[in-house]
Amino acid sequence: MSTAPSANVYLSGRTVDDYQRMFSLTGRDLKGRSILDCPAGSSDFALRARMLGAEVVSVDPLFDHDVDDLAWRVRQDRERLVDNIGRSPEMFRPGAADRYRSWAMPQEEFLADYARDRVKGTRHYVAAALPVLPFEDQSFDLALSAFLLFSYHALFDLSWHVQALAEMLRVAHTVQIHPLEEGASRALYSHYRALQDALPGFEFTTKSIDNLCYLHASTTLTIRPRN
Ligand SMILES: C[S@@+](CC[C@H](N)C(=O)[O-])C[C@H]1O[C@@H](n2cnc3c(N)ncnc32)[C@H](O)[C@@H]1O
Repeated sequence: MSTAPSANVYLSGRTVDDYQRMFSLTGRDLKGRSILDCPAGSSDFALRARMLGAEVVSVDPLFDHDVDDLAWRVRQDRERLVDNIGRSPEMFRPGAADRYRSWAMPQEEFLADYARDRVKGTRHYVAAALPVLPFEDQSFDLALSAFLLFSYHALFDLSWHVQALAEMLRVAHTVQIHPLEEGASRALYSHYRALQDALPGFEFTTKSIDNLCYLHASTTLTIRPRN
């Protein structure tokens, strides 16, 4: 399986609370649902959602790393994210650095769960890279995708974005992406209309949420089949 190089993409670890806020998901929404988290990064979402009764598979190209290498990258990228706030303070809310630092404990819990998965072979953490996913059609009720597609819009062209969304819609009934803003700026993805035209059988809806780190990245996109 080919996994894309991701040196230019931060390995971040938004928490289950961040995920529930970004995607407007209550504990009741999670119970009994099969969910794909792609990219998962170092999030504790899967671990916590499983405790609430969901079945979750986490996908990231970095899940081909062994535990020690991944742990090194997780800790390094947390500091890189904090440093990045100093370089572009106009993009962030006050307290964003403390919020990133507060990920340390949930990220350690993620790493412990990742290590258990490696020992037990439960395949909760799968190494793969969009736009190709190693799952059967409609394996999941829901696919969640935070801080890759449009946040790193400059790394991917429109054709990649169409392929990535079509692939997530192949394996999951409903797909939610956050944020729809480019690079966490004020501007929505500049090819949003073309994206909708390329996926005519699907309904696109947007919702604004409160982002606790970024000032402007606030729009969640939901895509599901038209009735
Ligand atoms: C900024 S993190 C987001 C992680 C998590 N969703 C969050 O919000 O904290 C972006 C992740 O995308 C992963 N990534 C990079 N290229 C990818 C690709 N082609 N397909 C899937 N994941 C990719 C990176 O390894 C990284 O862990």
